[in-house]
Amino acid sequence: MKALILVGGFGTRLRPLTLTLPKPLVEFANKPMILHQIEHLAKAGVRDIVLAVNYRPEIMVAVLKQYEEKFNVKITFSVETEPLGTAGPLALAREILGKDDSCFFVLNSDVICDYPFDKLASFHKAHGGEGTIIVTKVDDPSKYGVVVNHANSSKIERFVEKPQTFISNKINAGIYVLNPSVLDRIELKPTSIEKEVFPFIAEDGQLHTFDLEGFWMDVGQPKDFLIGTCLYLSHLAKNQPEMLASPSCDYVHKGNVLVDPSAKIGKDCRIGPNVVIGPNCVIGDGVRLQRCVILEGAIVKDFAWVHSSIIGWHSSIGRWSRVEGNSVLGDDVTIKDEIYVNGGSILPHKSIAANITEPQIIM
Ligand code: GDD
Ligand code: MG
Repeated sequence: MKALILVGGFGTRLRPLTLTLPKPLVEFANKPMILHQIEHLAKAGVRDIVLAVNYRPEIMVAVLKQYEEKFNVKITFSVETEPLGTAGPLALAREILGKDDSCFFVLNSDVICDYPFDKLASFHKAHGGEGTIIVTKVDDPSKYGVVVNHANSSKIERFVEKPQTFISNKINAGIYVLNPSVLDRIELKPTSIEKEVFPFIAEDGQLHTFDLEGFWMDVGQPKDFLIGTCLYLSHLAKNQPEMLASPSCDYVHKGNVLVDPSAKIGKDCRIGPNVVIGPNCVIGDGVRLQRCVILEGAIVKDFAWVHSSIIGWHSSIGRWSRVEGNSVLGDDVTIKDEIYVNGGSILPHKSIAANITEPQIIM
């Protein structure tokens, strides 16, 4: 089978992390976001993966080429000279996606779930329509594509991208399976699949929904990245508890703690629930971590407290400091001792020596 992953876009909503790495390479639960998807695609028997890129392709190529052998897949980079949106990239990759008459998967690169590719493909083949999109339910649908089905049917009646008024809380989860015939509906120019393609396939009665079971999150912005991390860790606790630090471990508090084996953790810490600690991180003595992500090589010094925040690669949090309120530290940020940071979005390489009491961007 074939798949295309949409990895373009500038990832501006995930700054300052995306100032250092393209969004799909930012580690989610200690693994590049896109690797979660590649692993699941490979497991479902996909051998041809197209990465639709328009932003810093060199970094992506260097990292992703190594996965080809590991997962026995062929990864082709389809590089746009101008951003082609969410549909244009399918036209650009027509040669691969349309090389035979089998269906192909399309994925937004920033969605996390327990990707049900096998079930999705079977369902799609059974109904015989041109496309199937995975849907899930959310409390606030306004920032997503919203779907309305025909009564008692998987067939979609309406697809509205980011509606201004409430239509339904059933949303596009950003994962599709499409027949090659859909390529005939897309021209090679900047095009939105959500606004310029799906509404018309739906009008023709050819677009169906597949209900997602379990967790889902678009982790393309810091607040949602943290929510997605909590959902994913709970999923691991239920299905692969051996991946997590044992709840009987002396520093683990209320579970859901994922620690890279190379990380060092000091004495008398209280860590959890919902914490990810990356490779080569150093956590001092008496540190309190709760609902946060500590990326590779970061240092949290003695008696610091980090809550609901993302600490960027190789950053350092001083002794007795406190970081909270959806703060995001870029690469190599230093927070001095005894500093309070609330909702700070701090650009790479900054050193912070005064309190940040209100959410703000520090450049
Ligand atoms: N190659 C390429 N070129 N990829 C792009 C481009 C482009 O010009 N623009 C965006 N993308 C990629 C992004 O990297 C992301 O993986 C995907 O397309 C969707 O773009 P987002 O910017 O993340 O869109 P969104 O989150 O606002 O909305 C989309 O996702 C929601 C689910 O998370 C839509 O598909 C919604 O309908 C959907 O509900
Ligand atoms: Mg998104």
